Amino acid sequence: GDTGSSAIHGLRGKKGVECFILFPDGRTSPIQERQMTTVLDSNIHNIALKGNFDDAQNIVKALFADLPFKKEYNLGAVNSINWARILAQTVYYVYAYLKVTDAGSTDKVSFSVPTGNFGDILAGFYAKKMGLPVADLVVATNENDILDRFFKTAKYSRNECRETLSPSMDITISSNFERFLYHMAGDDSKALGDMMKTFEATGSLEVDSKVVDKCKAEMKSSMVPDEEVLSTIEEYEKKFGYVLDPHSAIGVAAANKVGTEAKKMVSLACAHWGKFPVAVERAVGSEAMKKLDVPDTLAQLDTMETRKYPIEAETEAVREFIVKQLS
Ligand SMILES: Cc1ncc(COP(=O)(O)O)c(C=O)c1O
Repeated sequence: GDTGSSAIHGLRGKKGVECFILFPDGRTSPIQERQMTTVLDSNIHNIALKGNFDDAQNIVKALFADLPFKKEYNLGAVNSINWARILAQTVYYVYAYLKVTDAGSTDKVSFSVPTGNFGDILAGFYAKKMGLPVADLVVATNENDILDRFFKTAKYSRNECRETLSPSMDITISSNFERFLYHMAGDDSKALGDMMKTFEATGSLEVDSKVVDKCKAEMKSSMVPDEEVLSTIEEYEKKFGYVLDPHSAIGVAAANKVGTEAKKMVSLACAHWGKFPVAVERAVGSEAMKKLDVPDTLAQLDTMETRKYPIEAETEAVREFIVKQLS
């Protein structure tokens, strides 16, 4: 929903680049969808996939694993499957650190990160490895809590995907978590490969206790259910007049629950509340909602023409579509 529209707006009309976006049909907010489907440039191809985020990501990975196909069409990924994207995300940890500390400070700062695919928080981990004085990194999840359960029980096991108020985090397998596990297992690709094979075959993984201890030394976690998302949005609107979107509310609620010994904790805010008006209205009530101004760029989406291609959640169907569009 969010990476999709960023990629589309970055690449629209660019010569030599064809941009295929797979978004899970009906599982982004209507405004997120319109931010993507109202872009009608001929190099933008919005695929409304009949499945969930995991299906979309699996199809992209399957196409990337087909090396002749990848080579023929010069495939490149814009989401956090692409490690370079994560590297770019390290920048705002440094920026935020400099904003909340005095010049020359070496005080540690903690970060709470609304987490789905684990790309954002992995960037925080890399920023810390590069020397940024980071105290705690808090993995904040919604009810799709595979990561929180891992940090609490040492078991990495897949559940059914639940639709929550924070759709950009409705993910049952966090693609980048295996990159983190790789580092925690001593940068050992064989050990990581064995772990992931077990996970793929059984949907569940008991991680070696030494590796789990290392993970826990690097990150903490908290799960924030929908009702807490709503109460957090309501509380912050009332107390501070600041409207959190549901994802950002998860970061804030987790920060408050987990706490930190550092003097400061930054909670990353990843989306504007205006993309999720239904959840925000439920949280703040209809009277307060009437007083909130939706930015023009979002309000005008309602009347614009759209284009999307509904496609079954099957790798071959997506491959066929790509080939046809490019021929
Ligand atoms: C609004 C919002 N919040 C949270 C996330 C989760 O980030 P990540 O998938 O890197 O964990 C995303 C990801 O796209 C997002 O769009």
